[in-house]
Amino acid sequence: MKILHKEILARSNNLYIIRLEIIAPEISRKAKAGQFVVLMVNEKGERIPLTIVDKDIENATITLIFQEAGLTTKLLGRLNPGDSLYALVGPLGNPTEIERYGRVILVGGGVGIAEIYPVAKALKEKENQITTILGARTKDLLILEEKLKKISDEFYITTDDGTYGRKGFVTDILEELLSSKIKAMGYKLVYAVGPIPMMRRISEITSSYNIKTIVSLNAVMVDATGMCGCCRVTVAGKTYFSCIDGPEFDAHLVDWEELKKRNRIYQDKEKHICNLYRI
Ligand SMILES: Cc1cc2nc3c(=O)[nH]c(=O)nc-3n(C[C@H](O)[C@H](O)[C@H](O)COP(=O)(O)OP(=O)(O)OC[C@H]3O[C@@H](n4cnc5c(N)ncnc54)[C@H](O)[C@@H]3O)c2cc1C
Ligand code: FES
Repeated sequence: MKILHKEILARSNNLYIIRLEIIAPEISRKAKAGQFVVLMVNEKGERIPLTIVDKDIENATITLIFQEAGLTTKLLGRLNPGDSLYALVGPLGNPTEIERYGRVILVGGGVGIAEIYPVAKALKEKENQITTILGARTKDLLILEEKLKKISDEFYITTDDGTYGRKGFVTDILEELLSSKIKAMGYKLVYAVGPIPMMRRISEITSSYNIKTIVSLNAVMVDATGMCGCCRVTVAGKTYFSCIDGPEFDAHLVDWEELKKRNRIYQDKEKHICNLYRI
């Protein structure tokens, strides 16, 4: 659980995206693409889920990449090489189904780019043809460009403010790629991770072309072992626990409105706690 390396991958104003390499031999041996860990920074802290972005079995490490969103990620960002986490559990969640689909589109928005990376790598190893679309608010917040470009057959970047790549949203590129039924038929899978409005819009676009679309949901989690019910999501009208039944689901069947509301439940308290800690 000791931090071996730390790197600031991106910074814009006070927003940081940080990469940590952590010694975790057992997790590193077992982890598969799509899985995550739950960690605690200190004894009294909350538990937060983070995707296992990479692993190095030889060096017994896993890589986590996170954006400083609130108290826990900011406290995590203050740790340095040599420091240890208070607790780390994983690998959790179901691995991504990695098959030979043919042509696949991967879409990553913001820190979701880190979450599509292990899936892109695994799909490439299965000889899929990868089209990658990355989106960031601004150039300074774009991460993993080179790593994803290397394993992509087609590669696109958008920034909201036009400081890099195409000005606009990942969905603009997606719509162009699928702009006719004939073109759309070439793609067998769309895999997307990012903010809820992004994943929801992608789902609307791909559903009109009937393309299988998988999203990794960022439902709020507490124990991440199926005990507390906090990460409830509704998919195809049925209740699932995102931690043990997911985190990936068929985007076309997700109740997006409910997910959006549930993810905001603690927003006021989160802000209050950050103010208390002056962080
Ligand atoms: C399976 C999964 C994998 C994730 N992987 C990554 C990743 O690789 N990198 C990354 O930067 N972020 C990832 N997240 C989101 C990350 O867990 C939240 O950013 C983090 O918990 C925020 O905590 P905080 O105290 O810093 O911020 P807060 O201010 O407490 O929260 C900011 C927002 O983060 C979400 N959040 C807060 N607590 C939790 C929680 N316990 N579980 C889930 N979401 C929460 C809420 O939407 C909240 O509004 C993942 C979430 C899930 C469910
Ligand atoms: S986090 Fe408690 S049931 Fe999923």
